[in-house]
Amino acid sequence: MLSKSAARLFFLVGTFATTVAFVALTVDTLRQVPEQTNEAQLSPAVIRGKELWESNNCMGCHTLFGEGAYYAPDLTQVYERRGPAFIRQMLTDPEGLYPGQRRMVTYAFTQEEQDDMIAFLEWCSHVDLNGFPPPPTVGVATAPAGAGAVAVPQVYQQICSACHAVGGVGGQVGPALDGVASRRDADYLRRWLEDPLAINPKSRMPKMPLTPEQLEEVLAYLSTLKAGEPAP
Ligand code: HEC
Ligand code: HEC
Repeated sequence: MLSKSAARLFFLVGTFATTVAFVALTVDTLRQVPEQTNEAQLSPAVIRGKELWESNNCMGCHTLFGEGAYYAPDLTQVYERRGPAFIRQMLTDPEGLYPGQRRMVTYAFTQEEQDDMIAFLEWCSHVDLNGFPPPPTVGVATAPAGAGAVAVPQVYQQICSACHAVGGVGGQVGPALDGVASRRDADYLRRWLEDPLAINPKSRMPKMPLTPEQLEEVLAYLSTLKAGEPAP
């Protein structure tokens, strides 16, 4: 049994010590925030994107940093997972990526608003969250690893494989692309990727917002997909 004065001392020392620890840890956490969040990269575009995120209630369906609703995929790492072209497509015409099963609102964002939203999601994906969210995240279709001379381009894995399979891996919305270089010549593939709707106005393949470099990468990869040869 502690005497009355020993109990008082125990109380005072204990309270003081834990308060000091609490304050020190709080200061330490706050000290790390600017670095973990890359505060310096909070550009005006990122901030406008955050405002759009709020005013359009994306959190009514999505989670970000674990906050929000569980109806739709977590978007913390979506920039890394899907890349800007896919996100833009999702913000322009979600049904194009998920024919017949769209559950995401089609937003009438301007080009600039899309850029802002993408900047915001890119910023989010670089926040150091000590490993959150844990991999693997929802529904990522991965393309087969490139073992041949031409590696599978990242943009192919992020967008194209959502709809196309190669070697049995990938989505089923469009035809499998095995052997496509034998079915179609290089010129056709280029025109197709530049604008599918110009070739087939009824195409269910949306026009992909590829940069010129991405277009060349993807074409180089497609040219390796010959009939009778295993996928690279
Ligand atoms: C009504 C619910 C709903 C709202 C609101 C919503 N989304 Fe979505 N979103 C979805 C669903 C569901 C998906 C999964 C694909 C599908 O079925 O359309 C999705 C998918 C996405 C994806 C692709 C995720 C991935 O991993 O492939 C992005 C990016 C996205 N949404 C961004 C947004 C942004 C930004 C907003 C706010 C401007 C928003 N969403 C608002 C329902 C919603
Ligand atoms: C939203 C789904 C979707 C995405 C994403 C998509 N495609 Fe397609 N793609 C299709 C569909 C569907 C067709 C079948 C043609 C049609 O509907 O007109 C097609 C056709 C093609 C064809 C012609 C195949 C043939 O045998 O003629 C090629 C090549 C192709 N896609 C390549 C790509 C590449 C490369 C990407 C990524 C940059 C891509 N696709 C992204 C849906 C998609």
